[in-house]
Amino acid sequence: MIISIGPEEISQAVASLRNGQLIGLPTETVYGLAADATHDEAVASIFEVKGRPQFNPLIIHGHSVESLAEYAELDERARLLAEKFWPGPLTLVLPRKPDSNLSLLVSAGLDTVAVRIPQHPVALKLLQAYGKPLAAPSANLSGQVSPTRAQHVDDAFGDQLGCVLDGGSCTVGLESTIVDLTTEKAVLLRPGGVPNEELEVLLGKIHNYKGTEIRSPGMLKSHYAPGLPVRLNAQNAGPGEALLGFGDVKNATLNLSVSGDLVEAAANLFTMLRQLDHPQHSGIAITPIPHHGLGLAINDRIYRAAC
Ligand code: TXA
Ligand code: MG
Repeated sequence: MIISIGPEEISQAVASLRNGQLIGLPTETVYGLAADATHDEAVASIFEVKGRPQFNPLIIHGHSVESLAEYAELDERARLLAEKFWPGPLTLVLPRKPDSNLSLLVSAGLDTVAVRIPQHPVALKLLQAYGKPLAAPSANLSGQVSPTRAQHVDDAFGDQLGCVLDGGSCTVGLESTIVDLTTEKAVLLRPGGVPNEELEVLLGKIHNYKGTEIRSPGMLKSHYAPGLPVRLNAQNAGPGEALLGFGDVKNATLNLSVSGDLVEAAANLFTMLRQLDHPQHSGIAITPIPHHGLGLAINDRIYRAAC
């Protein structure tokens, strides 16, 4: 259901987000598929609804630098760029604050987080009203074109969303520029709404990342993988091993979802891997996860963790 914007519509969107539902959110770049970034299951359902076979990290949207500074470490470069380009089509990848209550799934287990302040008045109004940050990828099905009108979002997802806020046509129409500031040299991860040249005025030469590895989070060096050996398709725990179960599993140390719900399992995955990654165990054995729906993304992650 597409709704145009007044105070009641903002309240409706806030209520949807509080319930863990997804909403269609207009931004100046493209429409986003937004969820409460601190709500594990809501974030997991983004991947399910988009049909993403992998847990790509998501961008966190906030209404102010201070609200984002609760989740990310902004150094001098970040503050300089924020002052000049926010609100606007620029995303900064920054070290993630370890004690934040952000869902681990938002950054796909990485110890970095991508943040931006969108410029669209509706997005800003909603972020202010909601108070918490929103995780939002572009609101298209995986592999399809990014949406620049509310109708595109409604066509793709319809009644799977709490609502779609209609903010008209996106003025920028292509995604935000993404700059990685987690290393000494800034790296351009994705060209977008803010031209590289404008960033270089403030930062000096920006390294243009060549290759695809960094865009694929599983390949990132900093990607979280447990320190302990991981064994897949286990039926039981071996000596000293912790058993991470799924569904009706006896003697699991932890269970991703006793009822066999893949959304719940995705929401628990990174948290539980971290909990089990402890020297009291010799390894982590994981029972089989069905290979459909979000199971594809879960299996992709645990397969990488086991390599
Ligand atoms: O304009 C935009 O950025 C839109 C609107 C809705 O804000 N959002 C968007 O999100 O394009 P998405 O999910 O389609 O693209 C996010 C990109 C992905 O390529 C992802 O790999 C990268 O951001 N990304 C997110 N967090 C990252 C991180 N911690 N490290 C490296 N790349 C990251
Ligand atoms: Mg996208």
